[in-house]
Amino acid sequence: MSNIFLIGFMGAGKTTLAKKIASKLSYKWLDSDQEIEKQEGMKVSEIFEVRGEAYFRSLEKKFIEDLNPNENLIVATGGGLPCFHALMDTLNELGITIYLERTPKELFQRVKQATNSRPLIAHKTDEELLEYIESTMEKRREIYLQSKIIVDRFSQTPEKLIELIQNELR
Ligand code: S3P
Repeated sequence: MSNIFLIGFMGAGKTTLAKKIASKLSYKWLDSDQEIEKQEGMKVSEIFEVRGEAYFRSLEKKFIEDLNPNENLIVATGGGLPCFHALMDTLNELGITIYLERTPKELFQRVKQATNSRPLIAHKTDEELLEYIESTMEKRREIYLQSKIIVDRFSQTPEKLIELIQNELR
């Protein structure tokens, strides 16, 4: 038994899959953005606006450091979380990391309707959004690829992920 971390860019489907896997495995699940919002009493977009990104990244670090390493949790991590404060290493120490890989074009299609709640992509034109996703992915990809399990889009179903997790736990 171990903590499980779902990793990937905005729009990869981390939260939806975390919920589904957790109910099938009878694990608890958490979403780092939601936990930070509860704790701060502010939406992520407001935290960025009022306190700035560096403050938000420090909250992400604290959230991960405060996790109980022995609790069996599925955690949906914010898209940038593993890429700051060397948290990818921390996640790999704390449990099973699973990267939900998607191409920039797929991510673009998936996030373009829901940019307002995401401060890093709010108010971008379609062209700016695709460019932002491509350039940010270029920087983040090598970090995401340090995950223990890398899942392509065809395998991003709860059933397949559970099978991969069970193989890893064996
Ligand atoms: C971010 C992703 C968001 C949220 C914040 C910053 C990022 O989470 O943490 O807006 O840096 O990619 P989701 O990946 O859940 O959208």
